[in-house]
Amino acid sequence: MKRLVGKKALITGAARGIGYAFAQRYIAEGAEVAIGDINITRARKAAAALGSKAFAVEMDVTSQSSIDTAVEAVIGALGQIDILINNAAIFSAAPISEITRADYDRVFAINVAGALFTMQAVARHMIERGIKGKIINMASQAGRRGEALVAVYCASKAAIISLTQSAGLNLIEHGINVNAIAPGVVDGEHWDGVDAFFAKYENKPLGQKKREVGASVPFGRMGTAADLTGMAVFLASADADYIVAQTYNVDGGNWMS
Ligand SMILES: NC(=O)c1ccc[n+]([C@@H]2O[C@H](COP(=O)([O-])OP(=O)(O)OC[C@H]3O[C@@H](n4cnc5c(N)ncnc54)[C@H](O)[C@@H]3O)[C@@H](O)[C@H]2O)c1
Repeated sequence: MKRLVGKKALITGAARGIGYAFAQRYIAEGAEVAIGDINITRARKAAAALGSKAFAVEMDVTSQSSIDTAVEAVIGALGQIDILINNAAIFSAAPISEITRADYDRVFAINVAGALFTMQAVARHMIERGIKGKIINMASQAGRRGEALVAVYCASKAAIISLTQSAGLNLIEHGINVNAIAPGVVDGEHWDGVDAFFAKYENKPLGQKKREVGASVPFGRMGTAADLTGMAVFLASADADYIVAQTYNVDGGNWMS
């Protein structure tokens, strides 16, 4: 049985990777999906590949006017928003002595402020219309514990876990569930970039860090975007109505909390 029939979802950063896999699975479950991404060319290609239930919308989550315009466009096109996945994010790595203020500002503007103010815009819409919606934030195992070379990204994902708790506690009075997913290591273009950072800072050949992290996952391999989609469907479904302010690890056993 399809679990999201008639639901309208906005997924940020869905032009590729995990967000794209979420969009594909949501459509298979009966939803209509807006692919919000800063890369509108790739978002349009993604929407075209996903068919008539997908719609591309240009959205830079660092800009309040872009968030507001995109949310209005999605409401205009789909009628309303029942589900938001705050998925857009960037990775960065550097030893503490080399972190730049510009990099910190950019990571926090996208990963933290972007998620918070997109959540705010969509929550306002849900409250105004009395929509008992679902909001899912993408955290990470990186938010559970700091890492020597990944201070800024780890801190941004710890902030997502905390924002999920506060927003979850605040918005449940309107019947809006806010929860998060903490993936472990998920293969894809994002991790190609992560691998390149470690190649630089740990002096490893390209691809080696990826092999090492995959081998150390208790499940026996890196995750795939498809491994995460079941949790994204569950948290958006009525089965999750009583789940509030939680972050779920979907990581092959990497982290326990
Ligand atoms: N891949 C992993 O191993 C992994 C692990 C843990 C958590 N995560 C999290 O899962 C989510 C998705 O990861 P992914 O691997 O698919 O990443 P990805 O880099 O493949 O995709 C991110 C998308 O976000 C878009 N984006 C970037 N800046 C944006 C902005 N300012 N406004 C709107 N869109 C923007 C990009 O264009 C891209 O399409 C992220 O939140 C990431 O932190 C990923």
